[in-house]
Amino acid sequence: VVAFFQPKVLLGQHVLVTAGPTFEAIDPVRGITNLSSGKMGFAIAKAAREAGAQVTLVAGPVTLETPRGVQRINVKSASQMLEATVSYADAATIFVATAAVADWRPAHASGQKIKKDGSGQTPQLAFVENPDILATVARSERAQRGELYCVGFAAESNDLLAHASAKRLKKAIPLLVGNIGPATFGQDDNALLLIDDKGVLEMPRNSKLNLARQLVAEIAKRLSRVTV
Ligand code: CTP
Ligand code: CA
Repeated sequence: VVAFFQPKVLLGQHVLVTAGPTFEAIDPVRGITNLSSGKMGFAIAKAAREAGAQVTLVAGPVTLETPRGVQRINVKSASQMLEATVSYADAATIFVATAAVADWRPAHASGQKIKKDGSGQTPQLAFVENPDILATVARSERAQRGELYCVGFAAESNDLLAHASAKRLKKAIPLLVGNIGPATFGQDDNALLLIDDKGVLEMPRNSKLNLARQLVAEIAKRLSRVTV
């Protein structure tokens, strides 16, 4: 077996990845989630491991197999994902946020299953905004000092370059990766746009694993010069 990474460009690094959707409970049997498959994040975890890194994967509810040699932490909600991510971020040197975190959660999850009352009335759900996991980690002292290299992902429906560039600056991260549409939820391939302070690099359509390997190589190149 020939190892993909020769040399192992992330040897000595600890990569933390969030992946998959989150699930926000409405009641004990219902909730709000999204179509994220987790495939891109799992591919990045696998590629980072191939490149010699220690890898921790904080995964929302997906049924994907854990890549060999990767430590996996299962979570459901955005709040749980934040807690797990923040606790592992202390030891990490690279953070890649691929999770499709729900932007909002029901303000009050019911302790019991909500029942129809026979009147035809529908439940009125109120929402609160979820914490921004990537922005929280990126604001940390270690990230600010350049000891924790933060990478974000963005799927936009229009004006990818403009929206993604703005998102990179808003979250104060060195590298933002845009999914070049159409939506790639659940698919095995993707195309990416890497945006950093130097400009833009396009990675043409390929399998998510091959793109993950290319992305890992690009992250490794950038580790020595971190600027937002
Ligand atoms: N992200 C996160 N926590 C959130 C929302 C987003 O960590 N609560 C991360 C995602 O994992 C991704 C990046 O932030 O790496 C961008 O996510 P995206 O949904 O595109 O951006 P938002 O800031 O949520 O803005 P919007 O959805 O309104 O475009
Ligand atoms: Ca969002």
